[in-house]
Amino acid sequence: MNIILLGPPGAGKGTQARKLVDERGMIQLSTGDMLREAKTSGTEMGLKVAAIMDAGELVTDEIVIGLIEEKLQGDNGGGFIFDGFPRTLAQADALGDLLKRNGQTLDCVVEMQVDDNALVGRITGRYTCGSCGEGYHDVTKVPAVEGKCDNCGESNMQRRADDNEDSLRTRLMEYYKKTSPLIGYYYAKDDLKSVDGLAAIDDVAGSITAALNGGDIIGNG
Ligand code: AP5
Ligand code: MG
Repeated sequence: MNIILLGPPGAGKGTQARKLVDERGMIQLSTGDMLREAKTSGTEMGLKVAAIMDAGELVTDEIVIGLIEEKLQGDNGGGFIFDGFPRTLAQADALGDLLKRNGQTLDCVVEMQVDDNALVGRITGRYTCGSCGEGYHDVTKVPAVEGKCDNCGESNMQRRADDNEDSLRTRLMEYYKKTSPLIGYYYAKDDLKSVDGLAAIDDVAGSITAALNGGDIIGNG
């Protein structure tokens, strides 16, 4: 089963994708993570996108479609979770074409509905284990031992360069201008399920499971 997690910055796409990887053996394809990896490895592409990402703007369709195209050629295990991709109508069309070319299908698009006011607190409080990628939050999800990852035991917590109020404002604007039209796009294709992303993390996970199992959640079901 191949799915898209669609939602604004801080909606919880990465958090829920990691749960689906653990529970269903799916493969998370986060274009944000891929671009951050390119940034830290100092590749030509990484240098090109660094300033764009830090400012909260979208990198070009050509770059992200290229990244996804490469990954789709590998093993898809329990299915792909597209996290943060597609983000424009051109990317959505390209994904449809790539899946078709590989004989694959898109099975569900989960829209995570959240309130903008909640996003500021989520984003400015977020940090991640740089060793295993486990996500944390200053208030809502702290590790048992301060500074030490519950998952892998390493003390390598990191904060993203774009996790500040200025960049977040730009990221939100980019989302509403360029990404939110995808809600109508996938609704028209009858692929869309909407879940309440403001619920507790495990409750959101439960709604996503119900959506993937074909249940009615909120919205058009
Ligand atoms: P990307 O890395 O995709 O960032 P984003 O879309 O802004 O989303 P985030 O990763 O910030 O949020 P999330 O929804 O994953 O939330 P999370 O689970 O971490 O993209 C970064 C940049 O890369 C873009 O700005 C752009 O420049 C570029 N880029 C990437 N893809 C691109 C593309 N396709 N095209 C062009 N450019 C692209 O949760 C956030 C926090 O909230 C965490 O602390 C978490 O613990 C907490 N939390 C999560 N769920 C809950 C809950 N239910 N209740 C309480 N707290 C919760
Ligand atoms: Mg994310």
